Amino acid sequence: MRKPVIAGNWKMYKLLGDAVDTSLELKTLVANATHCEVVIAPVFTALKTVADRLEGSNIHVAAQDCAIQNDFGAHTGEVAPVMLKDAGCSHVIVGHSERRQFYGETDESVNWKTMAALAAGLTPIVCVGEQLPDREAGDAESVVKTQLEGGLNGLTVSDLERIIVAYEPVWAIGTGKTATPEQAQEMHAFIRESVGEVHGNDAAENLRILYGGSVKPDNIAELMSQEDVDGALVGGASLDAQSFSKIVNYKQ
Ligand code: PGA
Repeated sequence: MRKPVIAGNWKMYKLLGDAVDTSLELKTLVANATHCEVVIAPVFTALKTVADRLEGSNIHVAAQDCAIQNDFGAHTGEVAPVMLKDAGCSHVIVGHSERRQFYGETDESVNWKTMAALAAGLTPIVCVGEQLPDREAGDAESVVKTQLEGGLNGLTVSDLERIIVAYEPVWAIGTGKTATPEQAQEMHAFIRESVGEVHGNDAAENLRILYGGSVKPDNIAELMSQEDVDGALVGGASLDAQSFSKIVNYKQ
């Protein structure tokens, strides 16, 4: 059984006080959620404080990006996965489409970051997803397959057990346009099949694949009812504790 994961990506929102307040409100609201793993990803400057305040709770803390390596050195502006672990993180988002589109992230750097995160004992949440022209041209699957092959290149079966994949069609992020549950299911099944071809069926069966892109309290249940949808990566609707807790508690 794949335990669902509901993750909130706070992007570049919230000063420290707000991040702490939202985390503490969420802690109470999701305290009884045992059906899924709950993850929040605040900005770097809030990670340590939020992680400290959530210690002992059922909420995991993720960073939104990391450096490609763990060796200390002259890498101004970078934060190594070991440092994120040291700050109390258990997860890290890697290869989010905003980083791919605007900050030069490539499949190769996603691969290095994934390896570095694993080496530091973090769970990477590896993001893939096509842009609208790709989908319109009928290339959505081949684009996602290339991202997967590049991003997960060289990973062992035991590495695969420790990663999470998030499928986020770029045209659905922050646009209010959610992929239909059928579109999500179709791509998730394709991702599982593609991972199975390279890494074997067991690894593919156990892999958790999250959907992301305009997930809201009123569409989560239908998305989660799809066989290959194992959770969600939520942006806008994760910023408010009430709204995010409704997504986490989609079962109730
Ligand atoms: P959204 O963002 O939920 O605001 O569409 C999702 C994401 O970028 O992870």
